[in-house]
Amino acid sequence: MHADGFAAPRRVPLSVAALRWPRTLFARLALILCVGLALAQVLSFTLTVTERDDATATMMTAYIAREVAISVALLDHLPAAEREAWLPQLARRSYFFILGPGTPGEPPEAHRSKSVASAIASGLGDKYPLTSSAVPGTGERLQIHLRLSDGSPLTIDYRPPPALPMSGWLPVVLAAQLAVLAVCCWFAVRIATRPLHELARVADALGPDLKAERLEEDGPSEVARAARAFNAMQQRISAHVAERMQILAAISHDLQTPITRMRLRVDQMDDEAQAGKLTQDLLEMEQLVKEGVAYARTLHGTGEAPRRVDLDALLDSLVCDYVDAGSPVTFERRLNVAIVTRVQALRRIVGNLVDNALKYGNTAAIEVSASPQDKTVTISVLDSGPGIPDEALEKVFEPFYRLETSRNRGTGGTGLGLAISRQLAVAMGAQLTLRNRPEGGLEGRLVLPGADA
Ligand SMILES: Nc1ncnc2c1ncn2[C@@H]1O[C@H](COP(=O)(O)OP(=O)(O)OP(=O)(O)O)[C@@H](O)[C@H]1O
Ligand SMILES: [Mg+2]
Repeated sequence: MHADGFAAPRRVPLSVAALRWPRTLFARLALILCVGLALAQVLSFTLTVTERDDATATMMTAYIAREVAISVALLDHLPAAEREAWLPQLARRSYFFILGPGTPGEPPEAHRSKSVASAIASGLGDKYPLTSSAVPGTGERLQIHLRLSDGSPLTIDYRPPPALPMSGWLPVVLAAQLAVLAVCCWFAVRIATRPLHELARVADALGPDLKAERLEEDGPSEVARAARAFNAMQQRISAHVAERMQILAAISHDLQTPITRMRLRVDQMDDEAQAGKLTQDLLEMEQLVKEGVAYARTLHGTGEAPRRVDLDALLDSLVCDYVDAGSPVTFERRLNVAIVTRVQALRRIVGNLVDNALKYGNTAAIEVSASPQDKTVTISVLDSGPGIPDEALEKVFEPFYRLETSRNRGTGGTGLGLAISRQLAVAMGAQLTLRNRPEGGLEGRLVLPGADA
């Protein structure tokens, strides 16, 4: 604070952030085009006005020189006594004559005065030697002093006329031109950026079911070409992935038969201890193979059509199955909402989360909540187990990724449960995430669209 009570003016540095380059391509192109065209427009306007003023000044100077020469010749021919009476008629808007020596002063400096003085001098010729002086005071003022043939002094007093006024409609026309330019810029930039939006939208829509939406292959040739290339790329990706999934599905499927044969053979073995261990290994292999087939299927799209279901009823029946089998699973808060969803896929996702909660956290509690604004329903599966280290919360969604602590026989899984669930969730347009609860344990959270109150 200053002594006088005013806060010291804060120096606001003209930071780079204040002049930040806009982030969107639309804004950048629009800015470049609008600023460039507006500058060009203002420049050409300035050039026109300057040219007009220069041309008018040149014409006026030539006119003054001619008129002054005629007037001086007339005054020279008149008897000295009659000259005074003619002065008002010889005066013009920018100059008048004085029968006298005028005001002495320095030679003129101003460009306009100098050019008028030299034009008058050349108009009068050698007959009347003259001197010119700038009259001190407000505004530009020039006096040209000469002597007539009888020796009497004559002064021409010149004041540059005010610049030609600009006509009232010129700024309006300029503003209208700028407005037309702005509209054209907006239109051009929109044409240029729209295909990019469309491309991003379609690329985002390419889900795990690989059912790609095709881009329209029309429009300007560059856009059509990019759309063709993009569509072809989508098709290639779909074909590659589908081929790999078929191989995975085929191997997983075909492995089931030899595994079944091996189990039959194990049953006939004499060494019971070894047979038990082998059976356990074979069961694990069978599980792995089943999960492999399931994963391949989910990647290929479930093909299940969305149905409208009562969420409470669906979760109740799921929980009942677990409770009947003696598992500690609870489902308390009821919501009374209906959702449009793929029921089998939803059962599978929640089932996988509950399986994990039971396997790694010993208990599972299901909670639901709804957000009417964005028409979503959130299903949370909570446990009070050890949770997952923060850095692995995303990694566990990768196929076959299991935490080191899970690599024991007791909790032996294949590491595909969450990968399958994530694939299904994406295919349903839902979001599946995990987070460690502050009070301990893990929360698997599924946010589903399509909720009706
Ligand atoms: N509720 C949980 N608490 C702690 N760790 C978990 C929990 N859920 C998953 N994990 C960890 O994430 C890993 C991946 O889980 P995912 O369900 O994909 O595979 P899995 O349970 O090991 O096998 P699968 O489900 O295929 O039988 C698990 O191995 C486990 O380490
Ligand atoms: Mg699991």
